[in-house]
Amino acid sequence: MTTTIALVTGANRGIGLATARQFGARGWTVLVAARDAARGREAERVLRAEGADARFVPLDVTDEASVAAAAELVEREYGQLDVLVNNAGIVRADGSASPSETTLATLREVYETNVFGVVAVTNAFLPLLRKAPAARIVNVSSEVGSIAAMADPQGALSELTSVPYPSSKAALNMVTAMYAKELRDTAIKVNAANPGYCATDFNHHSGFRTAEEGAEVSVHLATLPADGPSGLLWGYQMDAGGGYGTLPW
Ligand SMILES: NC(=O)c1ccc[n+]([C@@H]2O[C@H](COP(=O)([O-])OP(=O)(O)OC[C@H]3O[C@@H](n4cnc5c(N)ncnc54)[C@H](OP(=O)(O)O)[C@@H]3O)[C@@H](O)[C@H]2O)c1
Repeated sequence: MTTTIALVTGANRGIGLATARQFGARGWTVLVAARDAARGREAERVLRAEGADARFVPLDVTDEASVAAAAELVEREYGQLDVLVNNAGIVRADGSASPSETTLATLREVYETNVFGVVAVTNAFLPLLRKAPAARIVNVSSEVGSIAAMADPQGALSELTSVPYPSSKAALNMVTAMYAKELRDTAIKVNAANPGYCATDFNHHSGFRTAEEGAEVSVHLATLPADGPSGLLWGYQMDAGGGYGTLPW
């Protein structure tokens, strides 16, 4: 197999679609994983019209049968996976309630996608990632998952106090660090990405960066050389005045 096979979850819009587009522009085969068939096929159509070798793969990260079926499809059709971007993520309208007002229902819902979904997808695809010569796993996290950044009283996030989304990304950061540790003697690299605050549906387009700029972070981590790092939270550095680099956990 000579072409790079990359799968992006939640690839039908936002940063995921922009990531798929940037992979397609590299000449890679990009598997556009989406939970909704109509939205997934439309993203596939748009990317193919732009010249990308894009293919919709049905995948709801919270549905174990869907995850297993997606992995079987990739196994059957491609035999391996070079790049997995765990991009799908959610935030909830009541997710900005104070910690003392947090509902378990919201907490569970956010964790199902942002944490359990990533573990389910990664474990289902790991046998295929191991078959690639030097696979890369990118977990799309956030600086709000950095306990150091969130606890800094002088930092840009000092006013943010919600539990569900930030703690889900903090958990995702630990998940990333543990996979990197398990896989440290292999050629596989596992890193968490901080896209920065990007204008997408996620935040009603209030972000000051574009989805394309956010996607650059995932693409960087998906294309790390053999001597590149593993087990980092890397991306946009708001407190450092912009630019890219490693963020504190
Ligand atoms: N935007 C930002 O400022 C920002 C900052 C830091 C981190 N992030 C992270 O970046 C990632 C992408 O965010 P975005 O801004 O591009 O958000 P978005 O525009 O809301 O897109 C989210 C994507 O995730 C998909 N998704 C949600 N639940 C899913 C599930 N159960 N199975 C499969 N796909 C699912 C959505 O599919 P549907 O279309 O079917 O809903 C959609 O494609 C997320 O992990 C987010 O936490 C975003």
